[in-house]
Amino acid sequence: MPREKILELMEYVRMAPSAVNYQPWHFIILTNRGNIENLAKAYPRPWLISAPVIIVACINRKESWRRIKDNKDFGDVDVAIAIDHLTLAATSMGLGTCWVCNFDVEISKKMLELPDHMEPLAIIPLGYPINAVPEKKRKPMDEIVSWEKYYPYK
Ligand SMILES: Cc1cc2nc3c(=O)[nH]c(=O)nc-3n(C[C@H](O)[C@H](O)[C@H](O)COP(=O)(O)O)c2cc1C
Repeated sequence: MPREKILELMEYVRMAPSAVNYQPWHFIILTNRGNIENLAKAYPRPWLISAPVIIVACINRKESWRRIKDNKDFGDVDVAIAIDHLTLAATSMGLGTCWVCNFDVEISKKMLELPDHMEPLAIIPLGYPINAVPEKKRKPMDEIVSWEKYYPYK
């Protein structure tokens, strides 16, 4: 995949909002086959290795904003929003992605030479989809929405 196309996609990621606009993120882009295969040791799946590009989204814990009252760290939220920009923009560009979190963090940190304050949140393979997107399976609207106050579904 041409580097310009990847950078066009990353421009949507760069514009993502974040708490206090701290932008506590870093994205490591792998296009080298050997590096992709090495990283896939953290999540060994044939379909992962078949991707021409892998993007690793990291939280910079030195830069993430913490809410004053309870010290809640919003780094996960910020990076999740940026990843959502990535996946939606990729779809609109005719590309395919998958959000992967069930990987071995230690293996990936070692392979990417990440310092302790850089936490890999998700591995996102990026490529050209060969199948049409199947129908979405989602909870019905009345299960996820309440009006005026909370009332449980059923
Ligand atoms: C936070 C998060 C973590 C995920 N981790 C994985 C994963 O480790 N492996 C995987 O195959 N899919 C993973 N997914 C993909 C979900 O399984 C998928 O988005 C969900 O089943 C809905 O699929 P659909 O959007 O194609 O309908 C993850 C998605 C999210 C949002």
